[in-house]
Amino acid sequence: MQRILTFAKKLPWAEIRAQLGRIGQAMQWLSARLPSRYGFWVACMLGVLLALFTLVGFGVGLLALLLCLSLVAVGVSDVRQTRHAILRNYPVIGHMRFLLEYIRPEIRQYFIESDSEAAPFSRAQRSLVYQRSKTQPDNHPFGTHLDVGRQGYEWINHSMQPSTLASSDFRVWIGGTPDAPSDSRSPCTQPYSASIFNISAMSFGSLSANAILALNAGAKRGGFAHDTGEGSISEHHRTNGGDLIWEIGSGYFGCRNPDGSFNADFFEVNARDAQVKMIEIKLSQGAKPGHGGILPASKVTPEISAARGVPMGQDCVSPSRHSAFSSPVEMLEFIAELRKLSGGKPVGFKFCLGHAWEWFAIVKAMLQTGITPDFIVVDGAEGGTGAAPVEFSDHVGAPMQEGLALVHNTLVGAGLRDRIKLGCAGKVISAFDIARMMALGADWVNAARGFMFALGCIQAQSCHTGNCPTGVTTQDPLRQKALVVSNKTERVWLFHKSTLHALMELVQAAGLQHPNELTARHIMRRVSDTDVRMLSQLLMHVAPGALLQDKLDGLPDVFKTHWPSASADSFSVA
Ligand SMILES: Cc1cc2nc3c(=O)[nH]c(=O)nc-3n(C[C@H](O)[C@H](O)[C@H](O)COP(=O)(O)O)c2cc1C
Repeated sequence: MQRILTFAKKLPWAEIRAQLGRIGQAMQWLSARLPSRYGFWVACMLGVLLALFTLVGFGVGLLALLLCLSLVAVGVSDVRQTRHAILRNYPVIGHMRFLLEYIRPEIRQYFIESDSEAAPFSRAQRSLVYQRSKTQPDNHPFGTHLDVGRQGYEWINHSMQPSTLASSDFRVWIGGTPDAPSDSRSPCTQPYSASIFNISAMSFGSLSANAILALNAGAKRGGFAHDTGEGSISEHHRTNGGDLIWEIGSGYFGCRNPDGSFNADFFEVNARDAQVKMIEIKLSQGAKPGHGGILPASKVTPEISAARGVPMGQDCVSPSRHSAFSSPVEMLEFIAELRKLSGGKPVGFKFCLGHAWEWFAIVKAMLQTGITPDFIVVDGAEGGTGAAPVEFSDHVGAPMQEGLALVHNTLVGAGLRDRIKLGCAGKVISAFDIARMMALGADWVNAARGFMFALGCIQAQSCHTGNCPTGVTTQDPLRQKALVVSNKTERVWLFHKSTLHALMELVQAAGLQHPNELTARHIMRRVSDTDVRMLSQLLMHVAPGALLQDKLDGLPDVFKTHWPSASADSFSVA
């Protein structure tokens, strides 16, 4: 020990301190020019030297040299570019952030997300469609995964005397019946017997040709209806001959003049096609109500141009409002005209509930003119779209439950409910979803994304990019080849069939004969740890004809506030 101390004392400490100081300064100088965050880039440069050495010395390492050289070049370009600060600060390695961000949805979906987390559809919901569309067993063992004590948990009450039904092919007549067709101004001489579960509007353009072919062939095989979406009827809709609901949006695609206004002659030709069973005027959709749409010129293919009747090389615009009418009365006159031009087919409209007084104005116009649509489809704010501004998807329009409840109850209160059939759409996947909507007043339900899952959609949410990984929402010919029409036709058909079978079992368990017997009294909801309520106790209820009385006492506030100020002649408050 003594010897060590003596040795230490003899060391030239002043010199050592000076040397260390110089090394520190050199490190500082180096780190100012080559910070440690450049480490990976510097390692690539060293890799170049090492690979050069082994190449010259031993004749190996060409690949390593090329790789390191490319990474060094990437680093040079990273520090010189001006778009991404992260790459300027972290050359080469900074690309990891973009890579991880790119695969984040997949990592989240496959490894992190729980089965019940909805984003917007949970894994459990998607799996249910996949299983039903592949006839894989959809029973699951060991009991429910749901927390039945959670506020908002819902269930359907069963009977001690379940019924036995012969068929799950539940149907509803729209536009009257063959014996008693509806007649309001123009008669509906071709009422339609629709399945109570149909494919919601999705245009050719937002969906690929193969997706449309498979949806329509599935609809044909299962005897249900396929809504064209506002992109009109393409050749792919016609190939397989499945029943069509022709949707007409504000762009009047398939029935427009060059200036974008409505053309009655073109309408008549398409509407009288035997494959078209009903006509649906689109006022709005839940994911972007009050917002028009543009298909950029670059995406207007010859097929889309032919289907929509729009020129190539120009943006294809759907305005935010219709030009064929500007008041509730004019809208109903338009409906009556379309019914006549179509040769007596059911005509209705689709909308997401916005200002209550505008909806009341339409109902008042029905009472004033005696013209009623044959059907109304209520779309919920939770609905999907190919592309929409996020504020619109997140914060514009009424959710389906509230929209449907108001529409159904207004029609009951106005004494018009018997003349108009109600459809609805909004995240319907399971038979319980259908049962619930019918209990709230719907006569039938539509699903869009549910059928997309049946086509193989994996919820990659890249519909707006044209890079759909499963070929469902792309116009790229190579990508959509991945979607094999015969295989997906079968899945669309099976998803519909198995879902209605499951609905039949629910209806039987409730002791009923048809899902249209379901009411809000059949569905229970937990409202607290210790309290449950029937939906009928929680949602509005309007007595038949209540809106035809002078006094609105006892009616929900929305009627007291907005019904008196609504006018049949204007969408504005009177
Ligand atoms: C890809 C895609 C395209 C759509 N295109 C239309 C359309 O052209 N017209 C329309 O009225 N609704 C359109 N919708 C809305 C659906 O028809 C439906 O109303 C909404 O998505 C709610 O149903 P869902 O929750 O079952 O998807 C589209 C939805 C999606 C996902």
